[in-house]
Amino acid sequence: MNAPAPHPMIPEPSHDEMAEQLFVRDLKLFVMGDLEPVQRKMAMQVADAVDVRATNDPVGNLRTEMMDRSSFRQWLGLRRESQRLLWDVVGDSLDRRADELADRAAIAQPKGSVRTNPDFRAPGYLVDGDVHLMPGGYEADPGEGSVAQGALMDRGGAIYMLGRNGGYLNDFRGQTAMAHVLTCYPDLNPQKIVELGCGVGSSTAPAAICFPEAEIYGVDVGASMLRYAHARAERLGVAVHFSQQNAESTDFPDGSFDLVYTCAVLHETSQSAVINILRESRRLLRPGGVAVHLEVPLLMTIGSLWDELSAELEADYNNEPYWRGALTADYEALMRAAGFDDVRTGYQRASMGAARHANLHFGPESEGVFRSWFVASGRA
Ligand SMILES: C[S@@+](CC[C@H](N)C(=O)[O-])C[C@H]1O[C@@H](n2cnc3c(N)ncnc32)[C@H](O)[C@@H]1O
Repeated sequence: MNAPAPHPMIPEPSHDEMAEQLFVRDLKLFVMGDLEPVQRKMAMQVADAVDVRATNDPVGNLRTEMMDRSSFRQWLGLRRESQRLLWDVVGDSLDRRADELADRAAIAQPKGSVRTNPDFRAPGYLVDGDVHLMPGGYEADPGEGSVAQGALMDRGGAIYMLGRNGGYLNDFRGQTAMAHVLTCYPDLNPQKIVELGCGVGSSTAPAAICFPEAEIYGVDVGASMLRYAHARAERLGVAVHFSQQNAESTDFPDGSFDLVYTCAVLHETSQSAVINILRESRRLLRPGGVAVHLEVPLLMTIGSLWDELSAELEADYNNEPYWRGALTADYEALMRAAGFDDVRTGYQRASMGAARHANLHFGPESEGVFRSWFVASGRA
């Protein structure tokens, strides 16, 4: 991500815009990579000195103690403001290039399709707050065929991932989900595939690349995001059929798909929605079909004061209220309860490029953020 790379949909930023975007990336690296370990160390010293573990609310008391320290408050402020700045600089750059973006979104002879629904309402857990502080959230639609919200999510998401998830294509999650299929279900030759919660299609295109004969579908809640996803897929040369639906309950008939997958969706949905999405992924599979649910690679440790406090901070300073629940869920039990057999949970080594060229490995240990992803999978 050091040099501007051509993108199939995002107009080229100017030199100054690029400098701003790289500054935000470096600021976020500094906040999370350099400052966070210092705060963590200080928090552990404070926890011991004040003996918060001996109280009836260790995390709350540790938070109160830390809030008394100016460096902790400054770190939290910097963390939140760097995230807000991210959307500002990306949004400004895209606003200046709105005409070029609209031109790129006009596809003459599409291979795929997009189906939006003006009566659709996104579930409350997605509209009650702007997840990741992205203005307007996933469902915002400036209207009249606009792809602006999708463009914001695409470019902002790549910077949010610090360029470590496939640069501006931000596609290593999808490549890794496909690598998991090749690793654990090598006999599966899916003819029909759907990604639930596909966003702008960053993780959908890898399915089309890995299984070029398959029919590919993507489901999400935002009309602008999906229009953008459609144009983006077309410009990448892959045919995907996108539709605006709730992943908890889609309009596809039972047993429609050979492979159903999600990437980084479950930690953004309510606890009941997680159960519904797992059940829906089971309903959509033909017998013998496979579901793959890929999640962030750091399951947290209950009882670890810093992990517990971090989950609260993620909820309060990055609008991620379901982070703790998703990172402590028993996915093995949830998958079995949803009706899956041959259930596997563990860490898939990140595919840093096309899944078919990946160094395939699935095991019980996380190899670290961006180096592996948590996966729960199973067969219908
Ligand atoms: C972090 S983004 C990941 C997007 C995409 N899977 C990827 O890997 O780039 C999470 C996505 O899940 C979608 N999502 C969450 N709950 C959903 C639901 N009930 N129905 C449809 N989409 C949902 C959000 O709208 C958002 O686009």
